[in-house]
Amino acid sequence: MLFGVISSRAWGSRGMSVDITSSCVPSLRKSTILDAMRIGSLTLPSNLFLSPLAGYTNLPFRLVVREIGGVGLCTTDLVNARSLLEKRDKALKLVKTRPADSPLAVQLFGAVPEEMRDAAQYLESIGVASVDINMGCPVKKVCKVGGGSAMMTELDKTAALVRAWSTP
Ligand SMILES: Cc1cc2nc3c(=O)[nH]c(=O)nc-3n(C[C@H](O)[C@H](O)[C@H](O)COP(=O)(O)O)c2cc1C
Repeated sequence: MLFGVISSRAWGSRGMSVDITSSCVPSLRKSTILDAMRIGSLTLPSNLFLSPLAGYTNLPFRLVVREIGGVGLCTTDLVNARSLLEKRDKALKLVKTRPADSPLAVQLFGAVPEEMRDAAQYLESIGVASVDINMGCPVKKVCKVGGGSAMMTELDKTAALVRAWSTP
């Protein structure tokens, strides 16, 4: 399990080169922009990631992107950690996955450290490779519970949440 705070622009590092010629769109074949990369304990087949896009990055969309080829990691829409723990339909649908949808990152939002930790542990138990925390969403529904970009206004609290989250 990788616990991380992921920015969609943070993925430029160069890793081992990888042969993606059998599973990639022609324009990406033999391209030098594709390299395998590691994040913590996770080895990814390429350094191209699908960013979370609320309303779009559901299971069918991710499977289509994977079928095109070249993607190293796909991310879900942002998911309310509390709703996930309460097994709400909407949250369960957002994290719905299958073996072909791997490796998968789930993006959580919330501001209660224990809920974020428990939701991440649940995701780990169902085989999710990576969990990231949304700290950028500006919409009211997310910020009013202290999540998303509201986390950037309370840095001490946010740092404590991240620490509690990543400590076993
Ligand atoms: C419709 C839409 C929904 C998005 N939803 C999320 C989200 O749930 N979580 C997140 O971190 N970013 C979200 N983003 C931001 C994108 O992941 C991405 O970072 C942003 O569009 C900038 O992409 P670019 O660097 O390729 O221009 C969303 C963006 C759009 C346009």
